[in-house]
Amino acid sequence: MSNPATPPAVGVLDERAPLTFPPGFLWGAATAAYQIEGAAAEGGRTPSIWDTFSHTEGRTVAGHTGDVACDHYHRLGDDVRLMAELGLKSYRFSVSWPRVQPGGAGPANAEGLDFYRRLVDELLANGIEPWLTLYHWDLPQELEDAGGWPARDTAARFADYTQLVADALGDRVQYWTTLNEPWCSAFLGYGSGVHAPGRSDGADAIRAGHHLMLGHGLAVQALRAARPTAQLGVTVNLYPVTPATGSPGDVDAARRIDGLANRFFLDPILRGEYPDDLVADLAKVTDFGHVRDGDLATIATPLDLVGVNYYSRHVVAAPSPGEQPEPYWRAPSNWPGSEDVRFVSRGVPVTDMDWEIDAPGLVETLRRVHEEYTDLPLYVTENGSAFVDAVIDGQVDDAERLAYFDAHLRAAHEAIGAGVPLRGYFAWSLLDNFEWAWGYTKRFGMIYVDYDSQTRIPKSSASWYAEVIRRNGLAAQ
Ligand code: FCB
Repeated sequence: MSNPATPPAVGVLDERAPLTFPPGFLWGAATAAYQIEGAAAEGGRTPSIWDTFSHTEGRTVAGHTGDVACDHYHRLGDDVRLMAELGLKSYRFSVSWPRVQPGGAGPANAEGLDFYRRLVDELLANGIEPWLTLYHWDLPQELEDAGGWPARDTAARFADYTQLVADALGDRVQYWTTLNEPWCSAFLGYGSGVHAPGRSDGADAIRAGHHLMLGHGLAVQALRAARPTAQLGVTVNLYPVTPATGSPGDVDAARRIDGLANRFFLDPILRGEYPDDLVADLAKVTDFGHVRDGDLATIATPLDLVGVNYYSRHVVAAPSPGEQPEPYWRAPSNWPGSEDVRFVSRGVPVTDMDWEIDAPGLVETLRRVHEEYTDLPLYVTENGSAFVDAVIDGQVDDAERLAYFDAHLRAAHEAIGAGVPLRGYFAWSLLDNFEWAWGYTKRFGMIYVDYDSQTRIPKSSASWYAEVIRRNGLAAQ
C-alpha cells in the first residue's frame, strides 16, 4: 500500500494507506484532576463545585462521585510508568484549583503543589512533556457561593490562582492551557445545569462564558509575565454545525448554534470581538451589559497555540413545535435564545455517549480554525470515544475505540496535508475515569480501570497507540 498522490477528499478518508506525521509531532494522552485523582479530602484539598454536585442526590448517574475515582493521587508513580510504556511524548493533566488554593483564595497549599511537582518531575524523568491545564471545571465551592463564573470577580480569582501555579511549576512546565472547554463550564454548568454547579439561567450562562474568557486573558497575562518563554493557549471544544437540509430555516438554525457553540469563544479570544449576529440572537437573553471597556482586549491577549477538543458534529434543523429531543448536551437550555432549534440524528454509527462518529468533521474543524481565525500552531487536546468494554481472560479488546482513533488520526493527517499547522494529538483518555454526570458508566480510556481493585489493564487501543507513536504514524492495514 502506498500513499495516494493527492489526499482523499473530505468525507472519503482512506483507511488503508500508511501515514507518517511531521517530525516532533507531540503524541499524548489527556486526563483531568477531578476525573482521576480521588483523594478528595486529603492533603488540604477543599470541595469544588463537582464535589458538591456529585454529592447532591440525582445529579450524577447512580450517585457516583469523584471521591476515589482512579485513585491517581496515590498511584502517580505507577500511572506515569504506564505512560512511559505507551511511549507518550506528552501528558495533558489538569491542576485541581481547590487542591493548590483551598477555598479559592489566599496562599498556596504546599502539600497540594507538591503533588503536582512530583507528577511533573516524574514525567520529565521519563522523557514525557508535561502539559498543564489550569481549569478543568473544578471551581472551589467558596467561589461558587460568592457567585461563581457569572460573577466578574471569579476571573480575577482565577488569575490569582494561576500566579500561584506559575510560581510553583513554571520552571518545569513549558505547555500551559488556561481553560478546558469553556462552553461546557458556561452552558452545561449554568445553562442547562447538567454539569456542576447545576444552575439553569441563560443570562448567567452568557455571563459565565464572558468571565471565563476574561479569566483566561488575565491568566495568560500573568503567565506571560512570570514565564516569558512558555507556550500558552486555551482549549476549546468545537463542532462543525451542519444544517439538516439546505432550507433557509435549517441554515439559520446552523448559524445560531455555530454562534453559541463555536464563535462565542473563537471570536473574542482570537479576534477580540463578539459576533454581531450572536449578540442579536441573544437580545432577549442579555444586553451584554456585563462586558466592560477593555475586556475584549484582555480576552484577546496573544497566545502561542490553540487547543481543539473534537468529538462529534451537530446537525440541526429549524424549529418545529413539539419535536425537540432532549438528550444530555442537546438540552434546549444549553442554547439560550435558540432553545427551539432541533438537533437531528442522522442515523450514522454512534459511540456509547450517543455521539455520532464523524472523523471528517475533525478535518473541517481544524481547517476552519486555521483558515478563518489563526496561523497559530494547533493541537488536538482531546479526541476519543466511549464504548462498553468487556474484560475477557484479563484482556480488553476495544476494536471500536481503536477504529475511532484510527479514523480521527487519518483525519488529523489529512488536515496537515491541507495546510493546518497541527503539532500534536492527545487521546482522551489515558484511563477510564469519572465521566462527569455519567459517573463511571462511560469508559473512554485506552487503559481499563477496575474501580474495585484499581487494577489497570491496557486495552488493545493502548498497544495500537504505542505502535503509532513508535512509528510516528499509522501502518498500512
Ligand atoms: C470533554 C471533557 C473531558 C471528557 C470528555 C469525554 O468534554 O473535556 O473531561 O469528559 O469530554
